[in-house]
Amino acid sequence: MRKPFIVGNWKMNLSLKEAVQLAGDIKSESAGVKNVDIGICPPFVFISSVYDVIKGSSVILGAQNVHDEDGGAFTGEVAGFMAKEAGCTYVIIGHSERRHVFGETDEFINRKLKKCVSIELAPIFCVGEKLEQREAGKTNDVIGEQLRNGLKDFTADAAGKLVIAYEPVWAIGTGKTATPDQANEVHAFIRDVLSTEFGAKVAGDMVIQYGGSVKPDNIKELLLQNDIDGALVGGASLKADSFLSMIKTADSL
Ligand code: 13P
Repeated sequence: MRKPFIVGNWKMNLSLKEAVQLAGDIKSESAGVKNVDIGICPPFVFISSVYDVIKGSSVILGAQNVHDEDGGAFTGEVAGFMAKEAGCTYVIIGHSERRHVFGETDEFINRKLKKCVSIELAPIFCVGEKLEQREAGKTNDVIGEQLRNGLKDFTADAAGKLVIAYEPVWAIGTGKTATPDQANEVHAFIRDVLSTEFGAKVAGDMVIQYGGSVKPDNIKELLLQNDIDGALVGGASLKADSFLSMIKTADSL
């Protein structure tokens, strides 16, 4: 049984005061939630302050990115072990904004994923096609390639430590959500690829989140799909009431 996993990716938003307040509200209002794993990924500089707020609760802390090296002359970067020391148990890797705004390649993403698994910092590995790729009928080719390249040289055991997030680039921050059928079709394809590469048992146990304009009014239909096991939420995770409303919907399904 896969437990729904809903994660707020705060991206480069909120002040310190707002971040601490939001984390506190999520912690207190989600105390009774039993059927959903809840995560939040604040900007790096707020991670320690947010950790102090949520420690001892079931809210999981994640980073939005890490580098694949353990240290060195990489100005502006953060190593995985540093995020772990600051309290993170998860990290988003390969987000489309990292791929398309900051030029991250499949090879770099593969190195980061390997590093994270080796230090037991669980990756949320993002894949997703651009609009022109979908319109050209290339969605499965693109997603298949991102998965196989990102997970190159992975054992089944290592792959099983990951969460996958399917985030169609055209649905991120645009208000255009993939329909539940459209999303589920890609999720089923992702699980098929994982099953071919790592076996049906590992693939069947892996959580595959959907991301892209998930909101309180569309999360239910998305989560009711067979292969959608949670959500990676941007904009709608920045306000306690909308994030908690999605958690409560998921908890009730
Ligand atoms: P939005 O929910 O704002 O579309 O962002 C999705 C996303 O990129 C989460 O990682």
